[in-house]
Amino acid sequence: MQHAEIGLIGLGVMGANLALNIAEKGHRIAVWNRTSEKTTQFADTAGPLRERIIACETLKELTAAIRPPRPIILMVPAGAAVDEQIAALRPLLAAEDIIIDAGNANFRDTMRRFQEIEGSGLTFIGMGVSGGEDGARHGPSIMVGGSDEAWRRVEKILVSIAARYKDQPCVARLGNNGAGHFVKTIHNGIEYADMQMIAEVYGIMRDGLGLSTDEMANRFEAWNAGKLESYLIEITAKVLAARDPDKKVPVVDLILDRAGQKGTGRWSVIEAQKMGVPATAIEAAVAARSLSAMKAEREAAEQAYGAVDRSIPAAEAEALLADLEAALLAGKIAAYAQGFAVMQAASGEFYWNLPMPTIARIWRAGCIIRSQFLDTIAEAFEESKPANLLLAPRFVELMQETNPALRRVVATASRAGIAVPALSSALAYFDAYRQGRGTANLIQGQRDFFGAHGFERIDMPGAHHGAWAQSRG
Ligand code: 6PG
Repeated sequence: MQHAEIGLIGLGVMGANLALNIAEKGHRIAVWNRTSEKTTQFADTAGPLRERIIACETLKELTAAIRPPRPIILMVPAGAAVDEQIAALRPLLAAEDIIIDAGNANFRDTMRRFQEIEGSGLTFIGMGVSGGEDGARHGPSIMVGGSDEAWRRVEKILVSIAARYKDQPCVARLGNNGAGHFVKTIHNGIEYADMQMIAEVYGIMRDGLGLSTDEMANRFEAWNAGKLESYLIEITAKVLAARDPDKKVPVVDLILDRAGQKGTGRWSVIEAQKMGVPATAIEAAVAARSLSAMKAEREAAEQAYGAVDRSIPAAEAEALLADLEAALLAGKIAAYAQGFAVMQAASGEFYWNLPMPTIARIWRAGCIIRSQFLDTIAEAFEESKPANLLLAPRFVELMQETNPALRRVVATASRAGIAVPALSSALAYFDAYRQGRGTANLIQGQRDFFGAHGFERIDMPGAHHGAWAQSRG
């Protein structure tokens, strides 16, 4: 029997689609799943691709079916399942074999796994894959973490299965060990912020302006032809336009307002906090999902405080509607600036030397946050290597143009009692970031007053203390 070029473990939605994508690009692939019914079912429904698939019933069969040195992709739930799978696989592997964890792993687990595997002769790759089911099947964005040598060994297959933006493959090696999974985590953090800001604009249109779902769908569709052009705006229009086949009402009106989250958004915020990088829009988005999950408490609070009329006065409605597109763009710029700043800091912290323009480029197609906007980000990083996207000349210009709309939208929404946590934290971040002299001088004074922490002065060098005793009253 002809050997497979690659193996894949875990035939859930993402694994199955990735395996079909690999087979379709001409690679022979051996697959295995913990429950063999899933393997059989996968092979039975593979159609013409069946001939390039070796469906294995045991792990031993899988490893025997792949031509050494064996690259094996793990597509199993992040966490303990990955460790269990690696432990089961290791006795069956030989030097030079490559284990590729393609799940949404926490990069700290990935770093640990690199250490555990070191010295065994095996190679490990931590690989972020974005694009959901459809991306996995037809071309995801792929973020690779591992040695240059490991990358070169899998590059050909990964390039063949990745999404393409104007013929450029959306895959790259981003750095050693946890780099790929870290970048994927930040991708998801940005995804959370993007989605939350879109949901806030939806809230303004629904509760403040009383627009129908069709009217909202039309707006999003129109925005998708402008600067906001992106996959998330495109699917928002589609979600809003969809009707329940039985009840014939908008599906979105039937969906419970309680958002799930698997952890990647939260990890972005935790890592940002650990490095002291403000990622307020992402934080607000994660917190908004947590708040959404407290359905019963929110209902009790509505009872306690009484229902609010959130409608925007007619005189302001038209202007508000006209501001939404620019406001969303301004919020988005701040959120992306934060996400990229977190990656910039991690790049130094973990010695990854993350290539910012490349990251932006491989996110232009295939992934959930794919958009035209990322092309502009890639160009901005190439042109001027800004410390923060908000300092890149073309973003200064864009932000100058759009921040007044964000300010008006946040102000009007707040007056009406419409919650816009991500948009308002994006605005607050921008306002604080652009203020050369802020208010932390007072905090330094307070810290020194109660704890003798010392402060720097603007008029002389060194560490100083205030003469607080005299003013203690
Ligand atoms: C992607 C997605 C995908 C998934 C995330 C988000 O890039 O393809 O980000 O990885 O949708 O896990 O999941 P939650 O919203 O459930 O946290």
